[in-house]
Amino acid sequence: MTRDLTGRTSVVIGGTSGMGRAVVDALLAAGSTVVTTSRDPEGSSAAADLKAAGVRLVRADVTTPDGLDELVEAVPTVDHLVLSAAGLTYRPFRDFPASDAAGTVDGKLLGYWNAVHRLAPALSEHASVVLFSGVASVRPGPGTAAVTAANAGVEGLGRSLAVELAPVRVNVLNPGVFETASWAHMEEKEREEFYAETASSLPVGRIGQPEDAADAVLFLLTNPQVTGTVLDLDGGARLV
Ligand SMILES: NC(=O)c1ccc[n+]([C@@H]2O[C@H](COP(=O)([O-])OP(=O)(O)OC[C@H]3O[C@@H](n4cnc5c(N)ncnc54)[C@H](OP(=O)(O)O)[C@@H]3O)[C@@H](O)[C@H]2O)c1
Repeated sequence: MTRDLTGRTSVVIGGTSGMGRAVVDALLAAGSTVVTTSRDPEGSSAAADLKAAGVRLVRADVTTPDGLDELVEAVPTVDHLVLSAAGLTYRPFRDFPASDAAGTVDGKLLGYWNAVHRLAPALSEHASVVLFSGVASVRPGPGTAAVTAANAGVEGLGRSLAVELAPVRVNVLNPGVFETASWAHMEEKEREEFYAETASSLPVGRIGQPEDAADAVLFLLTNPQVTGTVLDLDGGARLV
């Protein structure tokens, strides 16, 4: 299967960090022109590295109606679109009114809706789209109600868009625990213990690395027969 994306334009919304950043690197290695985004392109610590790699960094915030104006203007044609952005809140359900949960739904499900909707006119006929969900969609824990609902919604959205935007292919990557800045809010010791405990609980005996996700995204973006799929990349978390 060829992964030569020379001449293609790829957009990664959420490419300044974590799995999105690894996707940017994989797309560059495949020869694609890459545009990625930040809510604060001037202040982003990734800006210099991205620029040095030849990546265009554009301001975008998926949660606001005009937050995608600069990106829409910057990319008249999109061959590959990846949405890895997320703004999520974990909180016990009994202390979590719907009005507070709306931020998580906006940060992910409606944010992705907004981004695909705004960029749909730019998608080329052979375009492909990958949306990120998360293992809480099928393996919820205490405090994950909003995250579970948003991620399950993303998976449904992906199936729906695979039908409605055809022949554009739309797929969802469902990661388990990956070593990224998502866990930076934890103290280092607590985080290392969490990683170690999670790894030992998984059939594969390890947590995910951003490059694992990038490899899976490239598969979903380039395989011409895959659409409407949710690819579980969770080390078996949903089984144990
Ligand atoms: N890491 C995990 O263990 C894990 C597990 C399950 C699912 N996931 C999912 O996998 C995806 C990637 O996670 P990650 O851990 O790699 O992410 P991350 O390192 O936390 O990076 C998040 C990225 O999203 C961007 N972003 C955040 N809010 C945004 C908004 N409103 N509009 C546009 N961009 C926004 C950030 O860019 P700026 O700050 O520069 O704007 C950043 O590039 C997410 O959807 C997450 O829910 C992750």
